Amino acid sequence: MSSAPLAQEPVVNLSGLIAKVKDLPPLPTIVMKAMEMTLDPNISIRNLQQVISQDQALSAKILRIVNSALYALRREVSTVSHAVAVLGLETVKSVIMAASAERVFQSAKDLGTKLMSDHSWGTALAARAIARRVRFENPEEALICGLMHDIGKPVLLQNLRPQYTEIISEVYGGSSSFHQLELLAFGFSHAHVGAMLARKWNFPPQLAEAVGYHHNPLSASNYRQLACIVNLANLVMIHMGIGFEKNKDINLEKQPSAEFLKLNGAALVALTSELRVALQSTAGLRA
Ligand SMILES: [Fe+2]
Ligand SMILES: [Fe+2]
Repeated sequence: MSSAPLAQEPVVNLSGLIAKVKDLPPLPTIVMKAMEMTLDPNISIRNLQQVISQDQALSAKILRIVNSALYALRREVSTVSHAVAVLGLETVKSVIMAASAERVFQSAKDLGTKLMSDHSWGTALAARAIARRVRFENPEEALICGLMHDIGKPVLLQNLRPQYTEIISEVYGGSSSFHQLELLAFGFSHAHVGAMLARKWNFPPQLAEAVGYHHNPLSASNYRQLACIVNLANLVMIHMGIGFEKNKDINLEKQPSAEFLKLNGAALVALTSELRVALQSTAGLRA
């Protein structure tokens, strides 16, 4: 996978990142196998089901996501093969990726698991809604990028706990943002860590780039539209006060990503009220 997203970022202390963040969570072997299988056009759904069913927690998580308000299915789905039949293989693949990302978030108690989870699922929903509005070709991909955008935070907490705990309380006190404080303290941020993890997990290059550039999307060279969608989705959540960082005063319309995506004030107001409703109906997912 390309290393472009990190290499093109001049302010990033790459060697520091590699030296300090050694402990990247592994992608469970079963997830890796299942993801590889979904790449095969002649995949046997029964084989995929067999592989996934070896991991009870993963199977349960996949079915919970599939049956959530996220996909608004009319009838409950109880097996992975049924999920593939109803949602299609591409969507089930993103659900598998979502389930793996959730595991990492759940390990990060100090980050306020609920706040982190609310913010990640909110950004995921917002990214999918924005993607649909701007007719981005793959709204499911935007959803996964939104879900994963801050995955570097729990990884930083695990690797640099004392310093990171201080950063968390400073952000909680409202004085600054994670991105700024991390750059000051380490020379890199959770965005870069997230991109590194996405590459390690062999997730698609567009996902690594969108995660890596979610705080400076116009610098993304190959997948700028996707990076802008994730950036704006994150800002919409901060504007709505969902997560650690809250700022009602953000002028969404004036954000470079909103301008790039050609979303005006009226479109953003409509989007925000649509999201308020969607977030209420997905509350169970984020518990
Ligand atoms: Fe972030
Ligand atoms: Fe975020």
